[in-house]
Amino acid sequence: MKKIATILACVAFAGMAQAQQTLPDPARDYGSNTAGYMFADVLAARDNPAFNRAIAATPPMGWNSWNAFRCDVDETKIRAMADSMVSSGLAKAGYRYLVIDDCWQSSRNKDGVLVPDAKRFPSGMKALSDYVHGKGLKFGLYSAAGYKTCQGRPGSRGYEWTDARTFADWGVDYLKYDWCYMPAWQEPFDAYARMRDALVATGRPIYFSASAGLRPDVLEWAPQAAHSWRFNKDIRPCWDCTGDRAANGIMSVLDRASQLQVALRVRPGSWSDADMLEVGNHGLSMAEQRAHFALWVLLASPLMIGTDLRTLDPEALDLLRNPALVSAHQDPLGMAGFRYRDFGDTEIWRRWLKDGADGKRRDMFVLLNRGNQAREIELEVDPDTVVSDMMASMVAVPVIGQSVKLTVQPHSATVLHVAGMRFKN
Ligand code: GLA
Repeated sequence: MKKIATILACVAFAGMAQAQQTLPDPARDYGSNTAGYMFADVLAARDNPAFNRAIAATPPMGWNSWNAFRCDVDETKIRAMADSMVSSGLAKAGYRYLVIDDCWQSSRNKDGVLVPDAKRFPSGMKALSDYVHGKGLKFGLYSAAGYKTCQGRPGSRGYEWTDARTFADWGVDYLKYDWCYMPAWQEPFDAYARMRDALVATGRPIYFSASAGLRPDVLEWAPQAAHSWRFNKDIRPCWDCTGDRAANGIMSVLDRASQLQVALRVRPGSWSDADMLEVGNHGLSMAEQRAHFALWVLLASPLMIGTDLRTLDPEALDLLRNPALVSAHQDPLGMAGFRYRDFGDTEIWRRWLKDGADGKRRDMFVLLNRGNQAREIELEVDPDTVVSDMMASMVAVPVIGQSVKLTVQPHSATVLHVAGMRFKN
């Protein structure tokens, strides 16, 4: 017994030595040292107490280039988006992060440092970051845990420490980290924790967004490794997509959120990411966009706008700036909503909000009509509750008896704020 304990202690010690020796080494090439790499992973602590969760006390709000521009992104567009975020009032409403998704990278230099695409970003990332910061916004970039990004650009695998240092030097405040070109044996937690810890080591507070939505096990490891975690395939601007895209529509993201019970893992500092918004994009009616936005608020998902702000129509802009919805999204209690009633084509979703100053309970309800015909939805409420319409400047909604009955149009939602409910499941 004693002998076994001694052997185990020696193994653990050797492993610690390995981890201590190798983890802080910026130039470490994991790819050529698979055994040490795996051993360090086994020993890696699951949580890093120095990981700054306070910067994610409420879910982030911002803009990301992917849904709007895919790979057709460049510094002129990014500067224009920064300008628009300020002039449109979105920055004032709370949208702070401006994130460049995939395709900004071209190669690595002789020191292994990432080089931005010189044609699209001739001024370099530091200058762009300075510009964004000069507008009072925060700057974000994208990389991937694999050998390559999902669009085949250089990935961070084996270069985590170099890349984290580079991002910090460029003034990056937000990193979206994807999951492509990974060896099949790779434990996702270890790959993500490695970048998380490299970011921590830079000393710069950087929001860390895990984008590994295709992995079915994401809830088992991502909440410890990142500030937010995707749980679904890439979103598309359709209510119920069909064919190959059946898993990409708004309703399917919602079903996935319910199926995985993502709300149980959400708390301040750790958010489920329903993917970037499609508000403003062709493919969704205005009613569908309203429902989509309200549901993302209810899920406490990051609100990353994914449209060209130069051509955003006023109705969509008003939706994104809706004060009641933004305030519910940023609710300090930090709980995510869940499917509260399921009547088939119609559903009620509920998010508990922080009690009001008067001590009254506050709830957000989304009365959702998924179907193709107008339907009446009834929400039971307690006596003396005050019900308001969050989409319509908090106008009072009449309570008759102990319920609110509203006709909800097809593919749309009515969003209610209810003050004074007693606890009900
Ligand atoms: C994956 C992600 C998307 C986007 C692309 C970029 O598909 O899920 O959100 O970042 O990669 O290549």
